[in-house]
Amino acid sequence: MKLIAAKDYDEMSLIAARFFAAQVLLKPTSLFGFATGSTPIGLYKELIRKNADGKITFKYAHTVNLDEYYGMSRDKKQSYYSFMHENLFDHIDINPENTRLPDGMAEDPDAECAAYDKHIADLGGVDMQLLGIGHDGHIGFNEPADHFSTGTNCVTLTAMTIDANKRFFNSADEVPRKALTMGMREIMQAKKIIMVVSGKDKAQILYDSFCGPVTPQVPASILQLHPDFTLVADEDALSVMKAHCCKCCK
Ligand code: PGA
Repeated sequence: MKLIAAKDYDEMSLIAARFFAAQVLLKPTSLFGFATGSTPIGLYKELIRKNADGKITFKYAHTVNLDEYYGMSRDKKQSYYSFMHENLFDHIDINPENTRLPDGMAEDPDAECAAYDKHIADLGGVDMQLLGIGHDGHIGFNEPADHFSTGTNCVTLTAMTIDANKRFFNSADEVPRKALTMGMREIMQAKKIIMVVSGKDKAQILYDSFCGPVTPQVPASILQLHPDFTLVADEDALSVMKAHCCKCCK
C-alpha cells in the first residue's frame, strides 16, 4: 500500500487526478472503474479541465462504475447514472457507449450482475479503479459482513449507509434499500486502485481499515492485500492514522 498525504480536499483531488491522467496517456484504451459520492467530484473536475485543455483524451477509454441503486431508473437525478453524466461523462470526450453502470431497473438482478462481470472480463479487467470509503468501511456498496463478496451482486444497504446517503433525497425513506454493486473480486482484480478520502469523519475508519486486521467486518481492509493500492487522503482524514503511527504511516 502506498500512502500520499495531501493538505486538503483540493490537493487530494489534484494528486489523484494525476494518476488517472497518466493512466489514460499511457494506455488510451484503459478500462476505468469509477465511483460516485461527494469525494471524487474534485478529481472529476480536474479530469474535465485536463480534457478541455487537450492534455488528455478519453476517446478510446471505457468505464464501468462501482454501483447503482436497485429499483431506480437512470433518468432519476439521484441515480448514479445521472451523477456520472452530470459530474464527468457529459463534459469529456468519452463515447457514451463506452460507459456502463449496473442497470438498476434490471428485471433479473442476478442476470444483470453476471452480465456486468462478463462485460468487465471481456474488456480485459479494470486497469485503474477509483474508490471512496463509507463510514462503515464499505467500498462500492460492499457493507460489513461475515465474508467478503465475490462478483457483482445485489445487496441490502445498512442503516448507516442509508443515513449517509439521505442527503441526496428528500428524506431517508426515499433512499432505495437495495443496490447492485461490484463485488470484491472485480475490485481486487483491478490492476491499480486509487482511493480518495477527505475529512475528519473518515479518520477512524481509515485507521480501522489500514492499521487493523483484514476482516470482512471492515470491507476496505482487504485493500491491504492489493499489490498496487494507493491511498490519497487529506490531513484530516489521516489524523487518527498519523496519531497512532501505524505500520503504513512510518
Ligand atoms: P462520500 O461516499 O464520498 O460521499 O463520502 C463515499 C462512499 O460511501 O463510498
